[in-house]
Amino acid sequence: MRDEGRQGVRYPQGNVLLRNLARDFPVVTHGQGVHLFDATGKRYLDASAGALVASVGHGNREVVDRIHEQLLRIAYVNGTHFTTEVTEQLASRLCALAPPGLERAAFLGSGSEAVEAAVKFARQLCVERGQPQRTKVVTRVPGYHGNTLYALSLSGRPHYKQFFGPMLAEVVTTPAPYPYRSGLEDYERDGAEHYARLLEETLLREGPDTIAAFIAEPVIGSSAGAAPPPPGYFERVSALCRKYGILTIADEVMCGCGRTGRFFASDLFDFTPDLLVLGKGISGGYAPLSALLVRQAHLEEMRQGSGGFMHAQTYLQAPAMTAAGLAVLDYYERHDLVTHAARVGAHFQRRLRETLLPLPYVGSVQGVGLMAGIEFVEDIESRRPFPRSRKVVEGLMAELFERGLVLWSNTGHADGTNGDLLMLGPPLVITEAEVDALVDTLAQGINHYFRREP
Ligand SMILES: Cc1ncc(COP(=O)(O)O)c(C=O)c1O
Repeated sequence: MRDEGRQGVRYPQGNVLLRNLARDFPVVTHGQGVHLFDATGKRYLDASAGALVASVGHGNREVVDRIHEQLLRIAYVNGTHFTTEVTEQLASRLCALAPPGLERAAFLGSGSEAVEAAVKFARQLCVERGQPQRTKVVTRVPGYHGNTLYALSLSGRPHYKQFFGPMLAEVVTTPAPYPYRSGLEDYERDGAEHYARLLEETLLREGPDTIAAFIAEPVIGSSAGAAPPPPGYFERVSALCRKYGILTIADEVMCGCGRTGRFFASDLFDFTPDLLVLGKGISGGYAPLSALLVRQAHLEEMRQGSGGFMHAQTYLQAPAMTAAGLAVLDYYERHDLVTHAARVGAHFQRRLRETLLPLPYVGSVQGVGLMAGIEFVEDIESRRPFPRSRKVVEGLMAELFERGLVLWSNTGHADGTNGDLLMLGPPLVITEAEVDALVDTLAQGINHYFRREP
């Protein structure tokens, strides 16, 4: 079997601890632009940019050359002893683009790490301010903030937590705006008031002065299929947090770095958070990299108090990672990639809706820019999900994979157990013609699958 793998087909039983033990994985040999190629020569259109990571596409030589140059110069220094030109430049360039007040950046290796750092920053600031009773974080359901224990605690995904309950931290939850399942007659009109009222009830029940921070994805990622907030939502929840002295954290790990057609998704919704977290697209997959952006004024409070933020990890500000971030940011600017993503994103959203909504079992198509979610339901009228035992989205994924289309599936968002969702988020470099090919293959695959498995 292994020899078969070495010849380039699959590695069914190698030494890698695979996430899915029930199937074999194709061996990818290379990628170019929006495409991946496996060892049999099969070509895939990477319609989810991996896990919405490959922002500047695969095999991007401009980016690789820049990283290579930096690696030869210096790949690693201890971020608690030294800084480097490449890290300084990335921080100043990101902060110049960021919502007002976010003037300092720390760099880490993953979205989960940056979320953990954001929560620790918020907590430390409360203690420095003489408010040690602020120990809780309010998070939204559905939502996802990562897979380390505290980030998982913050994630509104019950089935990810099934084995780990006793080890998770207690967090406070409030419903996230979820257009398809809000139950509201007019989500656009009433959503902001409705969800802000639910948040305020939660704060008052818990005691607002026990809460350190409120964390939210400006556009919800895979846990609700690229769900945008209703108009005015972030204005209202920010005002509530300000009123009660609660810090706001924007988790832009998935929706940041141009995916919505703006570099920062918060800007789309006039959200000016106290802390902001980036990941994924920031390095486009060319190195592990995430960022935590904080307010200079808050850091100054720490400087005058304990002396600084009590947090570091081995790869804090490592130049091998920040070189990838800077090379990717340069690529964005040289190719005006955010404007491109906004333009092609509008085409993508239009094509998805007009092609997929008429298909059977497609309950909703939603999203912003180059991120979208498609929810499949057994009954369109009542929005009743398929029973999980049918494994609809798994079947669909297999069908699409066969057709050379790579997407990202999700389950459980309808009621914690049921729900079949496909998440799309192609590389931002995708062209309109490639979007058309993507949507056509997707529609053919969906039609074929449901003809076979009604
Ligand atoms: C919104 C959001 N936050 C945090 C994370 C965690 O990032 P990572 O998987 O890099 O730890 C993810 C990952 O999907 C995410 O989508």
